[in-house]
Amino acid sequence: MQPFHVSQSSPSPPTFPSGFLWGTATSAHQVEGDNSNNDWWTWERQPGRIARGHRAGRAGDWWRAAEADFDRMAALHQNAHRLSIEWSRLERGPGKWDDGALARYREMLTGLRQRGIAPMVTLHHFTFPLWVAARGGWLWPELPQAFARFARFAAAGLGDLVDLWCTINEPNVAVVLGYLTGRFPPGGGGLRKARDAAVNSLRAHAAAYRTLHEAQPNARVGLAANLHLFDPARPASRLDRLVAGVTDRVYNWAYLDALRDGVLRVGPRVRVPEAAGTLDFIGVNYYSRDLVQFDRRHARTLFGRHFPTPGAPISDGGYGEVYPEGLLRVLLKAHQYGVPIYVTENGLPDEDDNLRPGFLIDHLMELWRASRMGCDVRGYFHWSLIDNFEWADGWTLRFGLIAMDPETQTRTPRSSSTLYSEICRRSALPPAAIAARRVRPEIPPKE
Ligand code: GAL
Repeated sequence: MQPFHVSQSSPSPPTFPSGFLWGTATSAHQVEGDNSNNDWWTWERQPGRIARGHRAGRAGDWWRAAEADFDRMAALHQNAHRLSIEWSRLERGPGKWDDGALARYREMLTGLRQRGIAPMVTLHHFTFPLWVAARGGWLWPELPQAFARFARFAAAGLGDLVDLWCTINEPNVAVVLGYLTGRFPPGGGGLRKARDAAVNSLRAHAAAYRTLHEAQPNARVGLAANLHLFDPARPASRLDRLVAGVTDRVYNWAYLDALRDGVLRVGPRVRVPEAAGTLDFIGVNYYSRDLVQFDRRHARTLFGRHFPTPGAPISDGGYGEVYPEGLLRVLLKAHQYGVPIYVTENGLPDEDDNLRPGFLIDHLMELWRASRMGCDVRGYFHWSLIDNFEWADGWTLRFGLIAMDPETQTRTPRSSSTLYSEICRRSALPPAAIAARRVRPEIPPKE
């Protein structure tokens, strides 16, 4: 990698190194369509689970026709794409491997490579095969072995096309939403189960990490962590600082600490020695921040009431505050783990594309700053290429650089896709766009 450089004397734009990965991220269930053999498919059919009763359904039709979107990525100068493969397609029942599904993934990954797009492949992005969910999902004692077998199958079948692997997407979100808030399957369970699930996911990650390396010594294997900012609502309040600090440690860092030294410190310590040293890189998924105010009525959120900064720009549906500096802050902390970093997700729901252009420039400025401060950031994957099925929020939140109507499958590029394309093409931030941000530092409020 070339060092990052910016001229001190001339107004040359912030430039990223050669070899930097520029792309978008997706996940199988959110774009493929007809993933009827997984737990989300069933979950979506239960009343009240998904906003407005929406379902993934045909999603973005990738299982049939992903290549049309690969053409769009290439036309937008993207040189990488993060996608996931669907366990429930590849192993339809215990040990029942589907060679036809494997062939389709080979075709897709070959299609990406032929277009000059390097794939990063996630093995688990929120969905379990129905047969795994029936055995307990994250709480199934044999999950680590089963997940490692799946990893072996994936490496044997796809390893010549992939060398960047993410084992699990956002285990912290899967555990908190699955076992505490109940917004994800299995729909609740409480603190004890949440901790057990986290421990088992660490074991599953560690088993898959080793298996991938055995099968493919040159593989680089990491995991995508959801890193969210929690700041005290009243910085002078000791209790606000305490509650925000504990939330930050438990939600963001306890899991990564366990992957570094093999001990999960959430409540009573749990030793997971096999997890120590199992990250070749950290995938950072960064979206937003919450202010946290001590409130004894909010026991389920560790006695913190969470809200956005008053007056801050908020993305669609109250999804979250737009807070670019947060990316710099999480990158600087993630850097302390001593492994390279990819920004594996960053984006916002913004159907009218009012905020997204400024969001892109401001977040990429922070990423560039982080690099200048010594963070080894090697790529950026915007979430997402097209509007897709946004889990419990269904189709109500639109994250795409390209708008997508799931009924008609019509694609309509948003203007930020052109801006991002320009960034990808130059591997630099366009001076005009930065200048525009300088004269208008505030992101205009949505109409
Ligand atoms: C992440 C998740 C993605 C996507 C995104 C937008 O937590 O990994 O699948 O849904 O959030 O909310």
